[in-house]
Amino acid sequence: MALTPKITKAVIPAAGLGTRFLPATKAMPKEMLPVVDKPAIQYVVAEAVNAGLNDVLMITGRSKRALEDHFDRVPSLEASLEAKGDVKKLRSVQEATELGDIHYVRQRDPRGLGHAVLCAKQHVGQEPFAVLLGDDLIDSRDELLSLMVETQQKTGGSVIALMEVEPEQISAYGCADVSTVEGEDYVKVNALVEKPSVEEAPSNLAIIGRYLLHPRVFEVLEHTAPGRGGEIQLTDALQELAVGSDEGSGVHAVVFRGRRYDTGDKLSYLQANVTLAVENEELGAGMKTWLRTFVANLED
Ligand code: G1P
Repeated sequence: MALTPKITKAVIPAAGLGTRFLPATKAMPKEMLPVVDKPAIQYVVAEAVNAGLNDVLMITGRSKRALEDHFDRVPSLEASLEAKGDVKKLRSVQEATELGDIHYVRQRDPRGLGHAVLCAKQHVGQEPFAVLLGDDLIDSRDELLSLMVETQQKTGGSVIALMEVEPEQISAYGCADVSTVEGEDYVKVNALVEKPSVEEAPSNLAIIGRYLLHPRVFEVLEHTAPGRGGEIQLTDALQELAVGSDEGSGVHAVVFRGRRYDTGDKLSYLQANVTLAVENEELGAGMKTWLRTFVANLED
């Protein structure tokens, strides 16, 4: 099979209103909420860049200017840290600005994830591209995106990431019906359904927030009708690609078995913070000592 074009572009939808985190997100984007010591969005941009996707397009909206500021330089701050000889803090502020080329486009109407992806059409053009959702953090020690890139290069269509969840959790995710591909680690996606009830779900394989999409998805999204929640769902467009036979159709999936941290609601966000703080080089030891005492004294 002919090699498909190299994947260099990543799209990060970040236009959501973050209502689950109100009032914290009343005046700041949810993507800027820190996970341990960095805004959540910085982990996601770093993951894309580490997988060789240096051209990042962020889909933003009103009240998201802090995102652009975070990835921009602040010369006065850098100069003052430099003057103080505080190399460590200087490096930490430079980290975000050295992540590569970040572009921004606004999603003017919040019409769903599918619509957010469609806003990337002009920037992406006719190449396969990645979509990374900011609510899912993938541990940098576990391989996912690069494996998906490899799979896309082999299969040529689109590739999604799936993860097994408890059956009763499936209604919070897109869900996939899959079959094995002989001799391969990836699977073929036969059908997709967005947030099914436990009874309707074809499996306990949940779509997690990493996608490698064939540009044909834009054509499909242009006519995808609003689905669950009245929104244009990416899952619905992928369902059409999964069952289609036109050029650019076909969906495969990588089943991820590594560490994923969900920052999409208050409880899982707090859990992600504790988990990553325990593993943090600087804070881990202190955090563990404190946690042990805290848990030992915990009353119902
Ligand atoms: C979106 C997708 C869903 C997917 C999930 C992964 O839902 O629509 O298919 O399983 O992301 O995090 P959301 O969480 O934005 O409601």
